[in-house]
Amino acid sequence: MNGSLPDHHNWPQPGLLYSEAVRELHATIENDWDSVKQSACQTAAGRALWKHVVHDPLAELFAGETHLNNFYEKIKKDLLNNAREVSGVILAVRTLWFESKLEAAVNSFGGGAQVVLLGAGMDARAYRLECLKESDVYEIDFPEVMQMKDTLLQAAMESINEASQLTLTAKSLRRVAADMRDEDWFKKLRESGFIPEKNTIWILEGIIYYLPHSQAMGVLKTIADNCRITQTVLLADFMNKQSTSLSATNFHFYSDWPDHLLPSLGFSDVKLSQIGDPDADYGLFHDPHNLFNKLRGLPRSIQNHPDDGTPCRRLYLVQASGSPNQTISRE
Ligand SMILES: C[S@@+](CC[C@H](N)C(=O)[O-])C[C@H]1O[C@@H](n2cnc3c(N)ncnc32)[C@H](O)[C@@H]1O
Repeated sequence: MNGSLPDHHNWPQPGLLYSEAVRELHATIENDWDSVKQSACQTAAGRALWKHVVHDPLAELFAGETHLNNFYEKIKKDLLNNAREVSGVILAVRTLWFESKLEAAVNSFGGGAQVVLLGAGMDARAYRLECLKESDVYEIDFPEVMQMKDTLLQAAMESINEASQLTLTAKSLRRVAADMRDEDWFKKLRESGFIPEKNTIWILEGIIYYLPHSQAMGVLKTIADNCRITQTVLLADFMNKQSTSLSATNFHFYSDWPDHLLPSLGFSDVKLSQIGDPDADYGLFHDPHNLFNKLRGLPRSIQNHPDDGTPCRRLYLVQASGSPNQTISRE
């Protein structure tokens, strides 16, 4: 077997570590949350199961047993079927890409930049990335998600010995309960201590496509407006139009050309990567026939694979920056 694929025979069955209290909280998530909110736990499950490449000790706790088991079964099936895309590989690459760009951005500011995670879900970077030690971190998500994250951490604190996993590596962390479709999210962020004048890194990971078009554009414009007053780095992933058909109910916003969209909003230095590009590979794509290498070989304007007519589903990883010195000229 390819050394960079997960080896499902050696994975421990998840769920042994956590208390009845944690299980009950996850039962509430499964019963009461819609699929958009539950995507936070699914993503954590992917990180937990790709642990041979992603280091996230809190991912199992945040995923919960059911999401871990479901994801585990999917990966097992993909490996047994020799699938060209193993479940979770995109998540693993995306996580590693955001982490390396985040670290580089923090260093480029000489430490101390604020970091805002929009649609933070069950992201645990504030507990695991040393590069954030001088950064004030803000996580924004729905009130239920932010509240549950606190409660899960509290329950874990009472039940596990390795409390060091629950210690912040960031300078500070504030959770902001807000619906990104509402215009007041930025006001809520400011009220929680965010300082618009301070160097800022914005992380939009697995969030923008959940928003309707006008609200997604509103969020990007708000961030662009903030570039007028401070040095900014934006890290975001964008689905192309074909990708949104994976879930017609949950996915809305898309951009086939985020590298054109962001400059039109006032961002500069836009760099776009596709899964499998040299800076988004991480040794996970040895097979030249894998889906991502095939996609990268096709012009981005092509909507369907020429050989079988299936949709060309792409995820773009995009870095951009902004600064008060540049002119903002919106179309
Ligand atoms: C796929 S998860 C990604 C979570 C996290 N960024 C990560 O990579 O682990 C999407 C997250 O976006 C959040 N989300 C979706 N729509 C939102 C909205 N309108 N307002 C706030 N959060 C939202 C969901 O609750 C969920 O936590």
